[in-house]
Amino acid sequence: GKVLVLHGPNLNLLGSRQPEIYGYETLDDINNRLREKAVLADWDITCLQSNHEGGLIDAIHTARLDGTQAIIINPAAYTHTSVALLDALNAFEGKVIEVHLSNVHKRETFRHHSYVSLRADGVIAGLGVQGYRAALEAVISAFQA
Ligand code: DQA
Repeated sequence: GKVLVLHGPNLNLLGSRQPEIYGYETLDDINNRLREKAVLADWDITCLQSNHEGGLIDAIHTARLDGTQAIIINPAAYTHTSVALLDALNAFEGKVIEVHLSNVHKRETFRHHSYVSLRADGVIAGLGVQGYRAALEAVISAFQA
């Protein structure tokens, strides 16, 4: 299998950015744990972070054509603003899992709506870094023979 993990804007600051909300693990910590898990299951994994909407969209376009079966995405603030990201995900035919570290539903109302959720097959919010691990497990087991 082949999975793409996409992290949106400001997630490069994880570990030092509002740790009371987002935790103390860095993005490298998260990605390394995901890579370990993927390798054990014999999955090819690419982890990518971008602070730019277009960078995330380009990565989704690449995933359409390179055999990627699933995208795990934390679109960060673009969750709540980006029709372009939704359109790109709609052009991708594989599985999409949306992950948020925090429980967006108990935060400001502008975080309650997600464009990406209109496309996502599953949504995980509020489980911290554990959410990414659960998403990867779900992806792997969904494609198990
Ligand atoms: C987030 C929640 C978003 O509302 C916020 O803009 C983020 C991170 C999360 O992981 O909890 O940057 O996606």
